[in-house]
Amino acid sequence: MPAFIETQFPIARLSAEAYKERKAGASQTLTGLGKWWGRKPLILVRASILGMLMPASNDPKKDHEIFLKILTMDDAGAWDRCKPAVQRKSSRIAFDRLPYAERIADCERPENIEGPSAITWAEVNAHLGTTAKSLPELVEQLGQRTFGHTPRVGDSFCGGGSIPFEAARIGCEAFGSDLNPVAGLLTWSSLNIVGGGQIVRDELHDIFKNAFDTADRQITSWGIEHNEHGERAEMFLYCVEVKPEDCDYYIPLAPSWLISENLRSVVKWSRVESSDRLAPEVVTVSPIELDLYKKKKGATSKSGRVIDPFDANRSWSIEALRGPGGLRRWLNEDLVPCPDDVFQERLYCIRWVNSKGERRYAAPDDADLAREAKVLELLRDRLVDWQHKGFIPSKAIESGYNTDQPIRERGWSYWHHLFTPRQLLIYGCYLEFIGRAENARIAAAILLKLTVQANWNSKLCIWNPDKSKGPGSTEQTFANQALNTLVNYGTRSFWMLRDSLLKDFDTTDAPVFSSEVVVADARDIFQDCDIWITDPPYADAVNYHELGDFFLAWYDKQIAKIFPEWIPDARAELAVRGDGEYFRRSMVEIYRNLSRHMPDNGMQMVMFTHQDPSVWADLGMILWAAGLKATAAWTISTETAAGLKQGNYVQGTVCLVLRKRISSEPGFLDEVYPLVEDEVKRQIESMQALDEGGEPNFNDADYQLAAYAAALKVLTQYSNLDGKEVEHEVFAVRAKNEKSDFQTVIERALGIACDTLIPRGLEETWRDLSLVERYYLRALDIESRGERRQGMYEELARGFGVTDIKPLLKSDKANGARMYTPSGLASAGLAPVGGGDDAIMRRGRANSATHPFASSPLRHLLFAIRETTAADNSPEMGRQYLRDTFGQAYWGKRESFVGLLEWISALGNAEDMGEWAADSEAARILAGRLRNDHA
Ligand SMILES: C[S@@+](CC[C@H](N)C(=O)[O-])C[C@H]1O[C@@H](n2cnc3c(N)ncnc32)[C@H](O)[C@@H]1O
Repeated sequence: MPAFIETQFPIARLSAEAYKERKAGASQTLTGLGKWWGRKPLILVRASILGMLMPASNDPKKDHEIFLKILTMDDAGAWDRCKPAVQRKSSRIAFDRLPYAERIADCERPENIEGPSAITWAEVNAHLGTTAKSLPELVEQLGQRTFGHTPRVGDSFCGGGSIPFEAARIGCEAFGSDLNPVAGLLTWSSLNIVGGGQIVRDELHDIFKNAFDTADRQITSWGIEHNEHGERAEMFLYCVEVKPEDCDYYIPLAPSWLISENLRSVVKWSRVESSDRLAPEVVTVSPIELDLYKKKKGATSKSGRVIDPFDANRSWSIEALRGPGGLRRWLNEDLVPCPDDVFQERLYCIRWVNSKGERRYAAPDDADLAREAKVLELLRDRLVDWQHKGFIPSKAIESGYNTDQPIRERGWSYWHHLFTPRQLLIYGCYLEFIGRAENARIAAAILLKLTVQANWNSKLCIWNPDKSKGPGSTEQTFANQALNTLVNYGTRSFWMLRDSLLKDFDTTDAPVFSSEVVVADARDIFQDCDIWITDPPYADAVNYHELGDFFLAWYDKQIAKIFPEWIPDARAELAVRGDGEYFRRSMVEIYRNLSRHMPDNGMQMVMFTHQDPSVWADLGMILWAAGLKATAAWTISTETAAGLKQGNYVQGTVCLVLRKRISSEPGFLDEVYPLVEDEVKRQIESMQALDEGGEPNFNDADYQLAAYAAALKVLTQYSNLDGKEVEHEVFAVRAKNEKSDFQTVIERALGIACDTLIPRGLEETWRDLSLVERYYLRALDIESRGERRQGMYEELARGFGVTDIKPLLKSDKANGARMYTPSGLASAGLAPVGGGDDAIMRRGRANSATHPFASSPLRHLLFAIRETTAADNSPEMGRQYLRDTFGQAYWGKRESFVGLLEWISALGNAEDMGEWAADSEAARILAGRLRNDHA
């Protein structure tokens, strides 16, 4: 019997909920524990597990209704989740009329609700033949029915822990495993801290207070954050300074010297007699001058160059200053630069607060510099002991794609070099408290508190002076997925960390059931699970093992004590990465291992967000080769794709549902094609229906991924195709452009998808267009909707079987792809060639002769538009050109020309399509002329 998720899935409502959860930022349930990249939305996990456990009946409508009720995503459920304030303002009728995404804007998220009401449970039970009064009871009963026990759900790439956490919260036995110990700690803590409820929150509350007070007493007695005026420091701003060979002084670097927009504070520099160091002064400027500083007045670091603060025409390349041999590598004991190093570092500004809460920025005075020196001395005295005990990092940075950046750009070769002496001193002082932790939970909580801070307070934290940041603040280290070094940065005082260090972790009061977390390579997992839900590392996205080391450097020796059975190392060599042969081999091994550790009636879900469909096709082949067959695929929109202009474009996560392939049925290509065709059409139509319903807005990539997935559903039922084994095909070595039969089927699916997706307004004409014409128009269609990624234009070309798109693309920049306009094509050398049925004209140039677009009627039509534009919108030349070119055939084509011209005339109105304004207007005028043409 198929599971509910193998027949349907409420993707519109789920997309809205998943999107809302991701948008909640810091108030997502697990984010407070610390940074991990690509956590999956909990609601998606909950719906996936329930969708796999709930059987499909022969009443799909009722199934749908009941499924939504279980998730409190039915109309009544959403209304009940609505905060009372909303309910007071709106009536139920008005509420139900809103689009779902608007309805839930002020609702509690379903994952924070214990479950449906008692009345609803009665309906659910009547339909499913259960007797549940809560989600865990339902899960238990459905699990018993299918597997004979409480269902066990596992994730072998558990990362931040979303999947095991949510599984345990709704009553499954949860198993989580990841190669990276940072992920292990986050997942363990999600289950044992967040999942621990009020009791754990209370226990930790006192611990956090105690740990903060202990360190605060020490820091206060050192006197490193207090001054003689009774103020306490909140922020310290540091910058790098360099002395180019032909310059008499060190130049302090910053891309902007604005300190605080709200306080109108800026830093100005001046020469000091008989010194090669400049002196900073913090000045309050007028609103007019503030504006200049916002526009980077006085910046001394710009586009990789050092600018002389007293002569903006003098500048030096930073790269060149590093010298041909690169920078000196810092040694473990280097806590600040050596006097001979190219890049020096200095404190240039401090923010103070007094007992009345009044704040001011000031340049450091002698007493402040003495305090800086004391910080360094205190740290030097403790370095050996603290590194030995693991209160500050002692690991060297291993070379890698992201980790090479700090090594190369600053010479930082140990992880503690990414922190100022102040940061190291206060963190070490705080972490000493871990010695008093009575259990693993307390020790883990202290560690997490510290590393949440480390993300917001390292030398990689940009200083942000914006209004939105109050008096100014630091950004997080991982504002993006890299280890970017900075020329100036903020450091928070211990006092500034107080709110965050004292804040309770959000915990959930829904009980969390049995769970196990291990740190292991997914190839070595030996635990059995009924359901595996995994979100494997994407081919080229995040270097988890490198970025995670930023945190692991702090956990290092502590983790070894708390979890002696875990290997406290990222084991980069085992991390799944890349997209080449190593990636494919590891993945086949891993998924084969997982299917070995699941019963014959078990299920898997693989989630995948990668935008490059060729990687996606690869993944399909991998799963197929691992002995799995796809039974359903759903695209849920989980997050906004960064970089796309129009805000309503969302990025889809494909959820592929799989089972073990038990029989070994052979497949034959000629039988497979029509099946693929039907499946792709069905999949796309269901997505289009959703788009029309106004809820999510899938983009082209989503449709393409869906087409691939649909093809996989058909293909993976067979154990071989025309006698060829899949595994052999996955690893076969091929010439660059050689395709396997499998790839051909998958690309055919893409072709079908491309054909099904007709740009709105071209439905009438589409059938009569050639493939290359369709390509040009579809490409324009995606361009007009803000798509600029070149890969998408190439992917489309594959779908339409167009091999050479260069002459059609005006710009083929990776993120700036654009098509030629009619006027632009003229200069591209792709002149129209030949005529229509009565071939009269031969205007083409030699290099156009081979390109199929050159001889297409659309090309001639575009030429006619250009003639119209060139003739100041007089349509006569253009019309005459078409009549000459097509002769009698003109009359047969006229109507479709008008349709195309009208479509083109609308292009100029789309956002960011200004280039089309003139040609669009000409198309409009020419359309009018053609419509009224008489023989
Ligand atoms: C996309 S993330 C998973 C995110 C997770 N689903 C969440 O919600 O936070 C992929 C994970 O795979 C892990 N990983 C990479 N190679 C691995 C391997 N060979 N075995 C186990 N885990 C691995 C990475 O450490 C990373 O945490």
